[in-house]
Amino acid sequence: MKEKIENLLKQMTVEEKAKICSGASRWRTHPIERLDVPEIMMADGPHGLRKEPKSEESASMGKSIEAICFPTASALACSWDRKLMSRMGEALGEESQTEDINILLGPGVNIKRSPLCGRNFEYFSEDPFLASELAANYVKGVQSMGIGTSLKHFAANNQEHRRLTVDAQIDERTLREIYLAAFEKVVKEAQPWTVMCAYNKVNGTHASENKYLLTDILKEEWGHEGFVVSDWGAVNYRDKGIDAGLELEMPSSYGDGKKAIVEALENGSLSEESLDRAAERMLKIILKAVESNRDDLDYDKAEHHQLARKIAADSMVLLKNKDSVLPLAKAEKLGVVGSFAKNPRFQGGGSSNINPYQIDNAYDELKQYTEQELSYAEGYAVENDSDNQKLIKEAKEMVEKVDKVIVFAGLPDRYESEGYDRDTLEMPPNQNHLIEELAEVNENIVVVLSNGSPVVMPWLKKVKGVVEAYLTGQAAGGAAADILFGKVNPSGKLAETFPQKLSDNPSYLFFPGEKDQVEYREGIFVGYRYYDSKEIKPLFSFGYGLSYTNFEYSELQIDKKEITDKEILNLSLKVKNTGKVYGKEVVQLYVSDPESTVVKPKKELKEFAKVKLEPGQEKIVEFELDKRSFAYYNTEIEDWYVENGDYQILIGSSSRDIRLKDSVEVKSTVELPEEYTINTNVGDLLADPAKEKIFKKLINEYLEDTDLLEMLGGRNSEMMAAMLNYMPLRALVMFSEGAVNRAQVEEIVEKLNNS
Ligand code: BGC
Repeated sequence: MKEKIENLLKQMTVEEKAKICSGASRWRTHPIERLDVPEIMMADGPHGLRKEPKSEESASMGKSIEAICFPTASALACSWDRKLMSRMGEALGEESQTEDINILLGPGVNIKRSPLCGRNFEYFSEDPFLASELAANYVKGVQSMGIGTSLKHFAANNQEHRRLTVDAQIDERTLREIYLAAFEKVVKEAQPWTVMCAYNKVNGTHASENKYLLTDILKEEWGHEGFVVSDWGAVNYRDKGIDAGLELEMPSSYGDGKKAIVEALENGSLSEESLDRAAERMLKIILKAVESNRDDLDYDKAEHHQLARKIAADSMVLLKNKDSVLPLAKAEKLGVVGSFAKNPRFQGGGSSNINPYQIDNAYDELKQYTEQELSYAEGYAVENDSDNQKLIKEAKEMVEKVDKVIVFAGLPDRYESEGYDRDTLEMPPNQNHLIEELAEVNENIVVVLSNGSPVVMPWLKKVKGVVEAYLTGQAAGGAAADILFGKVNPSGKLAETFPQKLSDNPSYLFFPGEKDQVEYREGIFVGYRYYDSKEIKPLFSFGYGLSYTNFEYSELQIDKKEITDKEILNLSLKVKNTGKVYGKEVVQLYVSDPESTVVKPKKELKEFAKVKLEPGQEKIVEFELDKRSFAYYNTEIEDWYVENGDYQILIGSSSRDIRLKDSVEVKSTVELPEEYTINTNVGDLLADPAKEKIFKKLINEYLEDTDLLEMLGGRNSEMMAAMLNYMPLRALVMFSEGAVNRAQVEEIVEKLNNS
């Protein structure tokens, strides 16, 4: 292949190289017919195929073919299930092969900085480790079928507000630890064929022409082998993009992009080498796509619908289950309320909107389970937020006569979408009012929520059950019925914090920024990293989710009590299903560094496992931790660094329900560069045993064995010792009343630097 690419490059004209780096239409690249280089086709993604038939391709957001709509990322993330993600990826790969798509545009791994981001339904989590593990498995699944993926939107596309022009200003440590970390792991572990650059600017430069992101980090540091494609319309100056490492402009810019590249070459502002590098990367993936084409694959729509149902059920989160109101029994008299029960909201708006081949509705699916007549009332209007007294009255009259009430509520389409952000965490007032009114006449209310991102629940205390169903795809209705009747035991856990109120969110004061500038001033304190550190009680915490059974954790064992940052730490623990039904538990491992000298969150997720357990069954769960599990990004050495110290290992059923603890001492094998000056604080020297020794020796010589502390005010003076900590070396002259002189201070500095 390498030789073939070299040959092609030799034969291609500058025009042809520029052409192959420019989209031919909304979804296709240019073929170079003379050299037998074919076009390739892309389609959205990520949770189903949005392939536009050729006749519709020229239209913006034309009607797409019928496809399976799987759950969206915010739901999928709650499954915490790597295997399920790769199975879904395989299914999407099979579908893409059948539909002649070469690259599926997803997954999106942007971090949920604010719950208001209109596109959060398409993103996994507020935590980069969780997002990257799930996305890497999705990518591996799709690509195992010979279909490429596009990891998006690189980087820091964390809001829709002014998304094409906003400048996300992020300090380096935060960028690395929070906003790039998910991309990094997926690139290193799964090699997505393409990465899609974001619309926005990052630290002053458009992502589409950001050399630091596209070349220095993505290609050189992380070793990405494929090409970078622009988000649709993200190109600012095409020639600058080529230079920065943006290989493909999408969609077609009707010749403008190609022209800009050729002109820049002619006037010398772009080198042929840069264009060659871009064309080479394009050819590599185009040829790979051709090689990977398979005619033997077909897929069964009904089978994939069943898969979508299973994934949906495994993603739903049981948030409340007072008095075991769930699961429902077949003999109970049930009332269903809410327009979403018959016209479900199961996906988000924008480029990921799928044309589903079938839509389950919860009402019909519940009917299959119950032995009783199933009553229904619409309850609220979806198209506006005003109370409809007639609908409320009908619903109240109906629910008075039943044992239990299932209310299907959540956010209507107009509340959240690609392209704009929400401005509130509130659900439509008419839905909130309805739930409160129903609770007055029936005490057994269960609310099933369909929404892409967190909402507040003013009625929470008045209802007995809440199922967070998120936007769980075309089979959401069936999956909800499976959960409600206990055919599937809920095992989803939240992949993001639900705050009590919007102003609790760490980005609240700085979101969505001023005009075209947004400063990420909360830094690394995103999601639970903030709520935990600030001891703010959320409505529902990260990693939280109930089950119809109980799990007992025991016997945490770690294989070493002391490691260096080059060693692996092996851990194991036992989890037992102590209840009466089969269930799955998400075991979460957090690391905490209570004595860090740099600012750190109280704890951070570093591993997790989903364990399947029959009643009474116990299993051993094993984890491995490596350097990255203990490291922070040190901007001084521009690398990950582990500080010497004791780290706590916390095993929990959620971020706020830690069941087992142990600790390990980790020693760094990297020495941080240290330069001493006359402004070095005495306390910093005393904190380092080696330096303390040198310093004390010198000082004693100068002071002829007079103790420094004693001289400064008495051996036992705690106050003086504390003050000395923050005294720069140059101040010793004054405080020792000349006993140490300036020349001696400079000598101390020199000796410290040479030691
Ligand atoms: C979205 C991308 C999408 C592309 C193509 C853009 O508006 O941001 O996520 O893949 O359109 O539809």
